Formats: sequence, structure tokens, C-alpha cells
Amino acid sequence: MRIEKIKTLAKQYAPEFIAIRHHLHANPELSYEEYETSRFIQQKLKEFGIPFEIKATTGVVGLIKGRNPGKQTIALRGDMDALPIQEENEIPYKSKKDGVMHACGHDVHTTCLLGAAKILNELKDEWEGTVKLIFQPGEEKNPGGASLMIKEGVLENPKPAAIFGLHVHPGLQVGKLSFREGKVMASADEIYITVKGKGGHAAAPHLCIDPILIASHLIIGLQQVVSRNNNPYNPTVLSITSFQGGTTTNVIPGEVKLKGTFRAMDEAWRFKAHELIRKVATELVFSMGGEIDFLIDVGYPSVYNNEALNKLANGKAVEFMGAQNVEETEKRMGAEDFGYYTQLIPGCFYRLGVMNVSKKITAGVHTPTFNIDENAIEIGMGMMAWLGSSVPIE
Ligand code: NI
Repeated sequence: MRIEKIKTLAKQYAPEFIAIRHHLHANPELSYEEYETSRFIQQKLKEFGIPFEIKATTGVVGLIKGRNPGKQTIALRGDMDALPIQEENEIPYKSKKDGVMHACGHDVHTTCLLGAAKILNELKDEWEGTVKLIFQPGEEKNPGGASLMIKEGVLENPKPAAIFGLHVHPGLQVGKLSFREGKVMASADEIYITVKGKGGHAAAPHLCIDPILIASHLIIGLQQVVSRNNNPYNPTVLSITSFQGGTTTNVIPGEVKLKGTFRAMDEAWRFKAHELIRKVATELVFSMGGEIDFLIDVGYPSVYNNEALNKLANGKAVEFMGAQNVEETEKRMGAEDFGYYTQLIPGCFYRLGVMNVSKKITAGVHTPTFNIDENAIEIGMGMMAWLGSSVPIE
């Protein structure tokens, strides 16, 4: 049985891929600078005998053909970039680069995809179709490596009928996977506002146009976009996260700069909300005598897990792991550039449990002490190989 062979190979190869993860973890690279990581991936694919091409400078796209390769193509995606965080773990494979750390587990995602590639290639006479391996750069930073890879044709030639991606989940016990259908992660857009008034002596406010007061009203006013215009059943967040203006007690400043984030799960609401935010901001600032510079920097779209594909994947996970180890994951207002793929083809983004309370492995992603229980690697690579070789797309 193929499932048994995949499990056996994943177990057999786990030590090799844990060592690969240690290498990647010790040598992290920031978004769009994944040159060494890219070379390392290319070298491994060569070693396995898998052909590949380069996209978006550091991205690597491999192709494994099974029997009847024209039958269907399934894409498996792993991201490669690290974060500007100083690692605080005292481990033998601690980051060798000051201020750069794989704190979101993308080293694990790359490792699992390499592991799946080795297994799928070895068993290629035993499954049907083609598997496209997508090692993508720049998940952590706009415009998102996924969008660049798509621009360079990663979803063409052959066009995948479906795409799978996984993410480590520090809130899920190692040994488990979790899935959810429909909306799973939010879009994320950045808001930049400058409120311009007229500065002057704080004792003579009647001679000034006070941008501090206007910006204060604006923050309250913007909250009403969410509380009064959005359907309460539709998850959305608007947070003003930076308010900068003024230097001292007796001067009204000339301007105030605000920054914030807007998140949503419904794409139609998302763009309607942009217009509302713009209207409220502009009209409120004008009504108080100020002027405004306004920018929404449009970021990643929401991640949407195709219902039928998610059901199939969930069923495959139950076969691979047992029903007791497959859970439903929660929705999150975090963002992922995997959303760019799910806008174009059916996708399923699932979570790999990496937590182990007894080993004190519980730190969240994007923190200086994030780490994983490495027993997750055998599961992560095995499950990806199983999905790539067993999901029939109608
Ligand atoms: Ni991540």
C-alpha cells in the first residue's frame, strides 16, 4: 500500500530532514534575500534527481511526474523567508545571523516540502499525475512572494488543479493536523494618514487648526466603519497602531501622522470598507478645517479554503493520521500570501501541530523563542507526499 510506503519512508528519512531543518534554521535569510536558501534547495533537488526552474529570483519550482503525468497537476507550496528578530533560543542550531531568525517556521515548511519531494520522486511509479513543488520567497513582506511567482507563471504550464500549503501551529499538539473550510485567514491592508492643520502657540488654539484633536476624532470615527457598516457576522478588524505628532507641552503641531491596519475575510466588503475609510477620514478632517494625505497600501487577500478540496484533504489526513489526530482549526485575522493562490485555483491551507507542553515548546510564531517539536517533520513531509500523490481532482 502506498500510504504505508510513504509512512515508512517519512520515518526513515526524518533524521536527514531534521538535519536539513537545522541547517536552514541556522542560516536564515530575510524576505527576497533567500539566495543561499535557494541554492540549498536547488542542490537538494539535483541530488534527488528532480528538474526545476527559478522564478522571482530566489523561488524554485520543481516538477515530479508520476504515471500518466497529464492526468492532473497538484501544487505543493513551501515558503522560505525568515524575520528580522534576534533569536533567544539556546540550541545547537541557533541562528548564526544577528537579528535574523526563522521565527515563523518557514524553515520547517521548506524542509517538509523537500522531504515530500524526495518521497514522491522515489515512489513516482506508484502514483498518477504531476506534482509541482513551489518553494516561494518573501511571504513575510509586501507584495508577497506568491504574487511575484504567479506573475512569472507558476500557476501555468502545467496549470495545477489544486494547491496545498501547510503552516506550523504552536497552539496545536505535535502529532496533530488541523483543517478548516471556507475563510481561514484575513486580508491585510496598511493605512497611512497625515492630518495637516496649522501649528502655533498652545495658549492660542483659536489661531491654530489643531491636528491632534482632529486625528483623535478621526480614530473614533474610523471605528464606526467597523461597528456600524460591517455585518456583525463578518470578521473584520481596523486598528490604528501609530499616532505621531507634537514635541512639547506648549506648541500645537502642524501635523499628525497615523498608521494602522485593516483586515477582512470578505473581498467585496474589504474594498467597500476602503472607500468608507477614505470618505470618513477625508470628510471628517475637512469638516474640522484640516487637510489630509491618505493612502491604503493594499496587501494580501484573504485565504479561502475550497470546500470540496478541504473535505478531500481532511479525509486524506484521517487516513494518514487517524481521526483522533485531525482537528478543525480556528479562523485567524492574520494574513498569508497563500491567499493569492486561492484566488486563482482551489487551495487548502492546513496546520501542522508543533507544540509540546512537556518539552516546554509553546512559544508563538514571530517571537524570539519560537521553536518546534521536531517530531512534526516526519508528519509534515509524509502528509504532503500523501496529499500530492493521492488526492483525485475531478
Ligand atoms: Ni508564516
